[in-house]
Amino acid sequence: MDLIHKFLNIVFPLISLITIPPFLVFKSINFIVKWVCSETENVAGKVVLITGASSGIGEHLAYEYAKKGACLALVARREDCLQVVAGKAQELGSPDVISIRGDVSEVDDCRIFVAEAMNHFGRCVKKMGFFYDLNHTIPMLDDFNATVDHLVNNAGIAPVCMFEDYADVTNHASVMNINFWGSVYSTHFAIPHLRKSKGKIIVISSCAGWLPTPRLSLYSASKGALISFYETLRTEVGSDIGITIVTPGLIESEITQDEFLTKAKLKIIPRLSTERCAEAILNSTCRGERYLTEPAWTRVMMLWRLLCPEVHDGCNHFFLIDRPNHERMMQNNRIQDQSAERNYVNRTSVVSLEFKAD
Ligand SMILES: NC(=O)c1ccc[n+]([C@@H]2O[C@H](COP(=O)([O-])OP(=O)(O)OC[C@H]3O[C@@H](n4cnc5c(N)ncnc54)[C@H](OP(=O)(O)O)[C@@H]3O)[C@@H](O)[C@H]2O)c1
Repeated sequence: MDLIHKFLNIVFPLISLITIPPFLVFKSINFIVKWVCSETENVAGKVVLITGASSGIGEHLAYEYAKKGACLALVARREDCLQVVAGKAQELGSPDVISIRGDVSEVDDCRIFVAEAMNHFGRCVKKMGFFYDLNHTIPMLDDFNATVDHLVNNAGIAPVCMFEDYADVTNHASVMNINFWGSVYSTHFAIPHLRKSKGKIIVISSCAGWLPTPRLSLYSASKGALISFYETLRTEVGSDIGITIVTPGLIESEITQDEFLTKAKLKIIPRLSTERCAEAILNSTCRGERYLTEPAWTRVMMLWRLLCPEVHDGCNHFFLIDRPNHERMMQNNRIQDQSAERNYVNRTSVVSLEFKAD
C-alpha cells in the first residue's frame, strides 16, 4: 500500500502539471464565448424568496429583482423594515410582493416561510383529468404545481471578537445557527420546489470564508462551511438546480458600520456600494455563474492565500493585530464579557463583543 502512495505522490502532481495549463486555456476561451453568446435568464414573473431582505444586500437584491419584474417573498425578523422594502419593490416594478416575519435559525420558521411563499405564489397547472372515484366520473385538477424559482440565502450576522476574548465559547452557537443552519434549513424545504422549476439557489457567503481575517474567526468558519456545503450540494443536485456562491468583500450595509470597521480594523479597505453588489449578484445569477466575488479585485487575494499563505498571514498579523492593546483589552473583557453575551442572540446583525479598554 505504501508503494502505491509513493507512486501516486510522484505521478499525480506530474499529471496535474501537464493537464492543468491546457485546461485553463480551454476554460478561459469557454468563459469568453459564454460571456458573449450565452442567454441571460429573464426573471420577469418568476418567484424569488430572499432571506435577510430587511436591509443591506438582501434589501437591494429585492430592488434589483423588482426592476426586472420578479414576484418576491421577503423574509427577516424586523417586519416594519420588510414592509418598507416590500412597498419600494412594488413601486420599482414587482407585480407581487409578500413579506414574512421569520428567524432563519428556527427550523419551523424556515418550514413556514417556504410554505407561505408556496401558498401565495403557487401556480395551478390546470390539466383537466378524471379522478378515479368509485364512479370514475368526477373531473378534477390533477396537478397543483406550487413553485419557487430562486432562493436567496442571504440572512447573516457578523460578530467581531478575538477568539481568546470569548469568555464562554458555548454562547455563540447563534453565528452558526443563523449564517450556516439558516441557509441549510431554508434550502432543505425549498429544494423539492426548486427541482420542479429547475430553479436556482444563491448563497451569500463571504470572502472571509476563504480569506482568514483576525477577529472574524466564528464568522469565517460559518461562511467557509456554507461554501463547502453548497459545493457538495451542487454535486448532488447536478444540473437540476443552479447554485451561485457569492463571496462579497466589504460592502456598505448595516453590518459594516463604523463600529464594526473600527473593531475589525478594516477601515482602510474601501467598501463597495450595496446597489453595485446587488446588481452584480443578479447579473451573475441570471448568467448561471457558479461563483461570484465582488468587488472582483478581492479574488486576487485568493491567489495570495493559495500560493503565498505566509505573506498573507504576516500582513494580517502586522496590520490587523494590535498586541499590547489586545492584552490590555483581554483583561477588561473577561470581566465584562458575560453580561454582554446574555444580550447576544437578540441583537441585530451588527454584533460585537469587544469592549473599551478604559
Ligand atoms: N456587508 C459586507 O461587507 C458583507 C461581506 C460579505 C458577506 N456579507 C453577507 O451578506 C449578508 C447580508 O449582510 P448585509 O451586509 O446586507 O448586512 P445587514 O444589512 O445587516 O443585513 C443582514 C440581514 O440578515 C437578516 N437577519 C439577521 N439575522 C437573521 C435571522 N436570524 N433570521 C432572519 N433574518 C436575519 C437581517 O434582518 P433582521 O435583523 O430584520 O432579521 C438583515 O436583513 C450576510 O450573510 C453577510 O454575512 C456581507
